[in-house]
Amino acid sequence: MQIPISKVVLGEAEKQAVLRVLDSGTLTQGEEVAAFEREFANLHQAAHGVAVNNGTSALIAALLAHDIGRDDEVIVPSFSFFATASSVLAVGGVPVFADIEPDTFCLSPEAAERAITPLTKAIMPVHLFGQMADMPAFADICARHGLALIEDAAQAHGATLDGRYAGSWGTATFSLYASKNIMAGEGGMVLTNDADTAERLRVIRNQGMARQYVHERLGYNLRMTEIAAAIGRVQLAGLNAGNAQRRANADFFNAHLRGVTTPVERTGSASCWHQYTLMLPAHVDRDTLVRALNDSGIGAKVYYPIPLHRQPVFGSVQPSLPHTETAAAHVVSLPVHPHLTTEERAYIVETVNRLAGA
Ligand SMILES: Cc1ncc(COP(=O)(O)O)c(C=O)c1O
Repeated sequence: MQIPISKVVLGEAEKQAVLRVLDSGTLTQGEEVAAFEREFANLHQAAHGVAVNNGTSALIAALLAHDIGRDDEVIVPSFSFFATASSVLAVGGVPVFADIEPDTFCLSPEAAERAITPLTKAIMPVHLFGQMADMPAFADICARHGLALIEDAAQAHGATLDGRYAGSWGTATFSLYASKNIMAGEGGMVLTNDADTAERLRVIRNQGMARQYVHERLGYNLRMTEIAAAIGRVQLAGLNAGNAQRRANADFFNAHLRGVTTPVERTGSASCWHQYTLMLPAHVDRDTLVRALNDSGIGAKVYYPIPLHRQPVFGSVQPSLPHTETAAAHVVSLPVHPHLTTEERAYIVETVNRLAGA
């Protein structure tokens, strides 16, 4: 058996959508992109969607739209993908790393608030592995301190907290990379309920132009192609069904795995189960376990083995973040994608229970 950590399945509908674009003769930023923006925003109950070429661009555009630039501090979790913090560097800002909640792996509101200085301009929680960060707490902190709230929702398509999607608390950015719950080859989306922010985002993704050849602010070419949007639209139509299947897989793992700490779902939230990430007990040697799982055909992976505050690019003077370091040392992600068969699910449980010593 070979069970990959994620699986891209493209069908006849995606093929027909791409052919429709090729026949149209318009390959970038046209009707498909406009329709994808509307449909993506509608599904997430956001007022505005602005499509871009990937999730990293979405973060950079969101930071620029909130006028974050040279020496401005943005509080981010260290337990995340590189782009969460590299996007802050890209606009000339300073990523300030704060610790996570030990059970959900999301940025801790208390730790983030303690990290605020007079230079802080924004807080950027990450909805890690599909689990929503504590957004009511972050909204409150940002309102009290006059800070922008940017949600890195790269992994959180369709996830909710108190019935609300990413994009309803702050400016939310999504990735449409191949491994995500839905994909467009490459792609990104920014959601906001604020019309002015949406307008700034549209200008930023198109070379800073509000009118042709009048560049009113710094912008780049961050545009999405029509081909990507056409694929994304088909994928979006399958998002809720895919997330329901991911949940069924996660429920099965939660019920049957032994001897490991299974993922915690925040009260009132519905994770979209982008990853199923468990914690191993300290006595289990993770590298040996992951190798054994891989040798058994299970594409287990570690997201993320080296936290961002320990990455050389961010400099050597960094705080100690105990919960982040513990998570980075002991987590393992198992395949939870919607294409798992019931046999594969059972085989994963049986193999993990045997190898992790339950
Ligand atoms: C948390 C997080 N932020 C940002 C990104 C960047 O998205 P992209 O790879 O589409 O640039 C990713 C992608 O893996 C991610 O997981």
